[in-house]
Amino acid sequence: MNKNTVTELNSKFSDANPEKVLEYFFDLLSDRIALSSSLSLEDQILTDIIVNIKPKARIFTLDTGRLFPETYDLIDRTNDRYGIRIEIFFPNCLDVQEMVNTDGINLFYESVEKRKKCCHVRKIEPLRRAFAGLDAWICGLRKEQSVTRHNMQMIEWDEGNNLLKINPLIDWTEQHVWEYVKTRNVPYNKLHNNGFPSIGCQPCTRAVEPGEDIRAGRWWWESPIHKECGLHKINTTNEQINKCQKHLKSIL
Ligand code: ADX
Ligand code: SF4
Repeated sequence: MNKNTVTELNSKFSDANPEKVLEYFFDLLSDRIALSSSLSLEDQILTDIIVNIKPKARIFTLDTGRLFPETYDLIDRTNDRYGIRIEIFFPNCLDVQEMVNTDGINLFYESVEKRKKCCHVRKIEPLRRAFAGLDAWICGLRKEQSVTRHNMQMIEWDEGNNLLKINPLIDWTEQHVWEYVKTRNVPYNKLHNNGFPSIGCQPCTRAVEPGEDIRAGRWWWESPIHKECGLHKINTTNEQINKCQKHLKSIL
């Protein structure tokens, strides 16, 4: 098998279903790959698939401390349904303490800069800790979710984190997602029944009106181009692809 580049991996799996893609990478990387789950519909589908492939696979979530009660409830329901224990990563308590004492408890409404600071402390830093021992992470990203995600690929090189990033549902439509969830009776966040198509932290997520963009309720006071918290970088340069090729050669 030729596995030298991300481009080749993407063409290899261009017609493959998520099960095949995930089987391949779990087989290849064993414990050095994990699902990063926000408990979204997509992540719940990936959990449903992954527990069938590898019941003891690592699945982690970042508990920012500002999640909805419905999301905490879903963590428990998911653990019970699949007989798993989703690993939870918290932000560093001293960093949160320093931030809220300096900038206020709801600093994110004041500027994009302060919103990104909060996302950094509550999500990015814990994510870096969650990455210990990993060569790849799995995400529930879909192109259809946002203008910032149209160019994303199923398999990417995550330059900032020096990891492979696998997005098995990248080309799925919302309809496809709901069909899977209903057919397999996958546990999902009750807020989805109340106008919340995309769910993040409670103070930064609101319901959308019918016909509105699915991420319109996330950081609704900001313009669409800013609507990434920093977990997902938007562009990939040639230089990044070259570095990726070298890294792949060393791990595959
Ligand atoms: S975000 O960057 O705007 O917050 P979004 O909610 O669309 O991201 O989720 C996209 C993917 O990022 C999820 O499918 C998941 O893989 C990852 N992700 C987002 N939030 C979290 C979280 N709190 N914990 C773990 N993974 C997350
Ligand atoms: Fe902070 Fe809002 Fe980002 Fe959550 S989504 S980490 S509350 S700014």
